[in-house]
Amino acid sequence: MIEAMAKQEGPAEPGREGRPAHTPVLPTEVLAGIVGQDPAMLEGWVVDGTLGMGGHASLILQTCPKLRLLGVDQDDLALTLAGERLAEFGDRVRLRKGHLAGLSRLIRKERIGRPVGALFDLGVSSMQIDRPERGFSFLEDGPLDMRMDVTRERTAADIVNEWDESDLADLFFYEGDETRSRKVAAAIVEARRRVPFQRTAALAQLIATTLGQGGKIHPATKCFQALRRAVNEEGEELLGGLAAAEHWLAEGGRLAVISFHSGEDREVKRFFKDGVRDGRWELLTKKPISASESERRMNRRSRSARLRVAVRQRPELDTASSKLSRGTRGRR
Ligand SMILES: C[S@@+](CC[C@H](N)C(=O)[O-])C[C@H]1O[C@@H](n2cnc3c(N)ncnc32)[C@H](O)[C@@H]1O
Repeated sequence: MIEAMAKQEGPAEPGREGRPAHTPVLPTEVLAGIVGQDPAMLEGWVVDGTLGMGGHASLILQTCPKLRLLGVDQDDLALTLAGERLAEFGDRVRLRKGHLAGLSRLIRKERIGRPVGALFDLGVSSMQIDRPERGFSFLEDGPLDMRMDVTRERTAADIVNEWDESDLADLFFYEGDETRSRKVAAAIVEARRRVPFQRTAALAQLIATTLGQGGKIHPATKCFQALRRAVNEEGEELLGGLAAAEHWLAEGGRLAVISFHSGEDREVKRFFKDGVRDGRWELLTKKPISASESERRMNRRSRSARLRVAVRQRPELDTASSKLSRGTRGRR
């Protein structure tokens, strides 16, 4: 089990209008999950596959003076800002643009050997949401974009204006947990016949009118989450990241995953459950760790965070067992 480590978080990077650009969620729990009992002795590389503003990365580097960190993000601006924040750690830090889906190839290319830890803090950062021009916000108007990597071809506007009504309804239902997804999809298809959607405010307004106000969250929250997940192919990306961690982590290496979406957390749970059954992982979190009351009060984003941590077991046996199963298949 993971115990919380009493470590203070450094000041958050200032964002727009004095808001912090991003406050890392579950900081002490992530730290304890990744570094374990003996932070001063831990050596080698840790991979932060979703570097963001480098908040967790900075904590890890401060706490473990012998560790080095490969920080990866698909967002160029995140890499620039994190680079400034992590400059004090000099050549202990290497930052690269990349995706979780391509992490395995990146680790091979960087020749860092087998990392002793990996962290995936999924989803968007406050920095991305707080910049209306990125198109993630339903509170402030911006282009209907939502790409974390702006070189991706498909934007949220492409999906909203081009997908069939039934595909939109499925997307909102499965990727956003929006139970009134058919109503929203029908309203979008009706409205886009007149004018295609180009701006976040127009879409948020239509969803609010269709579903009505009421409830604790903005009516467009779930559909916006679903669109963001589709634009950034978050489901496929997660699977790629998990496979890369399993392939590369050293024996005893730890993988910590924070998810903010029920389907995503189910995926992580299933991955670790299968791995425990096959002897590839030992689970440190029997149940996912969530934020304390005080963290929830201070950081809204932490409210839906779920952290799961597991330790890689005997990776050298994988090759032998996969050779064995290939051999068995061959003989059939
Ligand atoms: C929640 S933030 C991470 C915050 C970070 N842990 C911190 O403390 O500052 C998620 C970051 O991961 C990036 N990201 C999300 N999915 C990704 C993926 N599949 N591949 C690479 N980066 C990704 C986003 O661009 C964003 O910067």
